[in-house]
Amino acid sequence: MSASDLTSAGGGHSTSRIAALKRYCAHALDGVNLHFIIQRLIGRATCRLEEGAFISHTARIRNASGDSSQIVIGAHSHVRGELMIYAHGGRISIGEWCYVGVGTRIWSGASIDIGNRVLISHSVNMFDNLTHPISASERHAHHRRISRTGHPNDVFLDDKPIRIGDDAWIGACAIITRGITVAQGGIVAAGAVVTKDVPPYSIVAGNPAVVVRELAPDER
Ligand SMILES: CC(C)(COP(=O)(O)OP(=O)(O)OC[C@H]1O[C@@H](n2cnc3c(N)ncnc32)[C@H](O)[C@@H]1OP(=O)(O)O)[C@@H](O)C(=O)NCCC(=O)NCCS
Repeated sequence: MSASDLTSAGGGHSTSRIAALKRYCAHALDGVNLHFIIQRLIGRATCRLEEGAFISHTARIRNASGDSSQIVIGAHSHVRGELMIYAHGGRISIGEWCYVGVGTRIWSGASIDIGNRVLISHSVNMFDNLTHPISASERHAHHRRISRTGHPNDVFLDDKPIRIGDDAWIGACAIITRGITVAQGGIVAAGAVVTKDVPPYSIVAGNPAVVVRELAPDER
């Protein structure tokens, strides 16, 4: 008997119970994150999950600070991407009812504060730092240290905080560079490279991103 036989067999009541059981199993399986479980088992820092927060099997929590409270995922928020804080610094705070899509990378050496009800689509890159030094020799030395012993705790990456306001929406494949504030209700179009602050309830698009329009009162 196949799964579809199971759902179609019997009356409406048992059908809905089986459908609910299948949904529950699929959700439970989606939340089995071996990387996360192993990190917890071996005593590495991960993150703080508020009530109803969910990380899927695709999520990666990389916390080199040694302190799980430096990454906070707010109540009912759902993370499918990567949250990383460096050994030299960093903090990530995600508010309530947010979403972080698959393949998105949020990397902090200073701080990244994300408000409530923020949607961050898939394959977004958000870095509050240079990620590597500008000087070629320092960049190579940095790369060698990362390869050999992991991220160093004494590197200068010109870290500048990022802030994403409540009800913002960051479209697929967007890039948010260091020091940026996306104000409340701001929308970043798919593929945009954001190098300047995004005003409230405005849409920015392109590379470098510019304001393409302000939201009308009935769109806010
Ligand atoms: C921005 C967006 C929401 C459309 O908003 P909209 O109000 O309908 O905007 P419009 O389509 O009227 O476009 C306004 C202007 O921005 C431009 N524009 C829209 N999206 C753009 C993009 N991704 N890149 C570059 N320019 C874009 C349009 O060409 C238009 O320019 P014009 O005025 O010179 O003709 C949509 O294009 C988008 O990027 N959505 C993200 C979807 C996504 O990532 N989903 C993943 C799941 S969360």
